Amino acid sequence: MKYAIIGCGAISKNHIAGALNTGLEICGLCDIVDTGIPALMEMIPEEQKAGVKYYPDYKDMLEEVHPDLVAIATGSGVKTRIALDCIRAGANLIIEKPIALSIADADAIITAAKEQNVKVCICHQNRLNPSVQAIKKAADEGRFGRMLHGSARVLWNRNKAYYDAAKWRGTWKSDGGTLMNQCIHNIDILRWILGNDIKQVFAYTDRQTHDYIEAEDIGVAVVKFANGAYATIEGTVNVYPRNLEETLTILGETGTVKAGGKSLNIIEQWNFADKDDSAEVKAQFAENPPNIPGLGHTRIYEDVVDAIRTDRDPVVSAEDGRRAIELILAIYESAATGKPVDLPLTSGATLDYAGRFDT
Ligand SMILES: NC(=O)c1ccc[n+]([C@@H]2O[C@H](COP(=O)([O-])OP(=O)(O)OC[C@H]3O[C@@H](n4cnc5c(N)ncnc54)[C@H](O)[C@@H]3O)[C@@H](O)[C@H]2O)c1
Repeated sequence: MKYAIIGCGAISKNHIAGALNTGLEICGLCDIVDTGIPALMEMIPEEQKAGVKYYPDYKDMLEEVHPDLVAIATGSGVKTRIALDCIRAGANLIIEKPIALSIADADAIITAAKEQNVKVCICHQNRLNPSVQAIKKAADEGRFGRMLHGSARVLWNRNKAYYDAAKWRGTWKSDGGTLMNQCIHNIDILRWILGNDIKQVFAYTDRQTHDYIEAEDIGVAVVKFANGAYATIEGTVNVYPRNLEETLTILGETGTVKAGGKSLNIIEQWNFADKDDSAEVKAQFAENPPNIPGLGHTRIYEDVVDAIRTDRDPVVSAEDGRRAIELILAIYESAATGKPVDLPLTSGATLDYAGRFDT
């Protein structure tokens, strides 16, 4: 399967590792600047290097390489245009989260992919962490009973150097704030496990300490699900002096689970009425990966390759990517209007909130 990547910045090494671990034929590395290319080339085994070419323009790469699978890991604001061009060229896609920054763009990707019959996977890799898979399995088996309540907390630190390293970060046009960038993984998983069908959201967002970015550095939200469950979402990058926690708590009538660690890899609480498997599950999921993305990208690549080969949806579909941004855009709308917002959303974009914290 011929593979190429567009956007060779900070997260691209995880993609190349994923492509190598799944035996893809890496053909093209594309970026408008070549600064990230040597580090990626270094990862590629000697015997494969001759088949890998650098392209400054992704359109040239699509034309020359005709890749079967393309990863898009550019800044978030330019991904839709690139995704639509790749889909038109017949490529299956792994799009880094978030799928897009507006409902219209997410819908355009979903529609185009259906028309061209290609797979689109959104890189919410934490879904494939074995600990998260275990929680999802317990939910699918009905072990929680009636879902009551959940909480997704991402209490992190991102400093000026982080935002200075890539100018698109923290802007309404190309990123959004901490909910859209850092917290989206946990928000995606909360919705996936507690119930996709959401009725209403009420939220506050603010820019408390990062006056050099445009968007929010804190968001707190209350979510009401159609199945009667409630959830709270808390996300911030204001924690002094370093990341404090990322946790997910799911409370059902007959089950309680809390996951923590770097990216929900550690099961801190696991109590179910049907059987007492708490000690064994906690022992199984007791370790952090070396960094936050961990091995998640490789799992995403394994899943997408299998989805293409067996003609099924990937574990994180484009529709799932839309659900994650829909919830975040509803939070943005509620925070901006001071009113509860009903889902589903048919429109909304990060750019709708340009200038929100400037006065
Ligand atoms: N899944 C995760 O855990 C995770 C972690 C970090 C970042 N991300 C996501 O990955 C994406 C990239 O983040 P990053 O931190 O690597 O950003 P980055 O700024 O370090 O890298 C982005 C790269 O894209 C390149 N680029 C921009 N426009 C381009 C174009 N038209 N054609 C080709 N290349 C282009 C830039 O030159 C840059 O090198 C973002 O969407 C971000 O949200 C995901």
